[in-house]
Amino acid sequence: MKTAASPLEAPDRIAAPLLAWYDRHARRLPWRAPPGETADPYRVWLSEIMLQQTTVATVGPYFARFLERWPDIESLAAAPLDDVLTEWAGLGYYARARNLHACAREVAGTLGGRFPETEADLRALPGIGAYTAAAIVAIAFGRRATVVDGNVERVVARLCALETPLPAAKPALRDLADRLTPDVRPGDYAQAMMDLGATVCLPRRPKCAICPLMEPCAARRAGLAEALPRRSPKPERPTRRGIAFWLTDSQGAVLLRRRPPKGLLGGMTEVPSTDWREAPWAEAEALAQAPLPAEWQALPGLVRHTFTHFHLELAVWAGRTDRPEALQDSRWVALDLLGGQALPSVMRKVVGHALKQAASENRHDLPKL
Ligand code: ADE
Ligand code: SF4
Repeated sequence: MKTAASPLEAPDRIAAPLLAWYDRHARRLPWRAPPGETADPYRVWLSEIMLQQTTVATVGPYFARFLERWPDIESLAAAPLDDVLTEWAGLGYYARARNLHACAREVAGTLGGRFPETEADLRALPGIGAYTAAAIVAIAFGRRATVVDGNVERVVARLCALETPLPAAKPALRDLADRLTPDVRPGDYAQAMMDLGATVCLPRRPKCAICPLMEPCAARRAGLAEALPRRSPKPERPTRRGIAFWLTDSQGAVLLRRRPPKGLLGGMTEVPSTDWREAPWAEAEALAQAPLPAEWQALPGLVRHTFTHFHLELAVWAGRTDRPEALQDSRWVALDLLGGQALPSVMRKVVGHALKQAASENRHDLPKL
């Protein structure tokens, strides 16, 4: 007779003991319904948005304050955005607060105060991605949904002893998680997985000895619990290079440009620059991308900045022009107004670098291009 080598051959060997464990050990969290009651979709939604990049411990007091001030979707939708942003301060990622407010308006307005009950309809709302949609469907509406976040990926990789490294393993882990999800008690099952990942199946030193799933867990049996999930090494960040053009006019204003709406730093203000690429720039190539002709001087040093996918090294060339022309997507900004511009940090560095050099007006020793 074949023994069940994989929990997938009898998925109930996971769900049943996990749910029994949850009945005894569920964390008491302010957004969870008392046993036997169904959760309020507003509370579930609010808590899941708050928990997206923040820990359970941090979210607790914020959740309480929001609920006290805005006990339902209508009151939150009626609140001024600024009040919501102020109450959100400290949770970080303000786009989440804006989306929260936009979502509240949509649900309270167009949708008549009721949250949609399917993952597809929920995902159409601002700030609700695959994970949050599945969590709301399972927890607030008691419908089967596969809730997968980083914690669930870790638990599933271990239960099934999947050796494929992340991130390539993501689709396989979702599929495994789906096959393990029971038809009964979907909300409890989703939250039981979260609690197991948070309190027992920890990233380092998983507590297999007290785990309700130690018997069916394939990684524990193979002695691989701590080694899983495997991860591919992060690819090295390449270094890209460019030239930023610090162009001032006779009144001491500097030329700033709006970046294209799509792509990196989309729509933000910049000091005009060449493209950013790995190959170094020849002088003539760079000049061809200058916003206006000028007698450019290369300022000493480089501005360095690291983005998610690459390092950037910008040389800064300073130039002067007497007859500022109106250029598309560009404007002249007085130097003393630069502080009030919405410049991304890399551009703040460029401005700082250029101003520091300009302060030592004595640039005669610099190479003329
Ligand atoms: N993390 C995200 N959602 C959660 C929930 N409902 N309970 C516990 N931890 C969570
Ligand atoms: Fe995680 Fe260990 Fe439990 Fe397996 S037995 S699920 S590795 S804590």
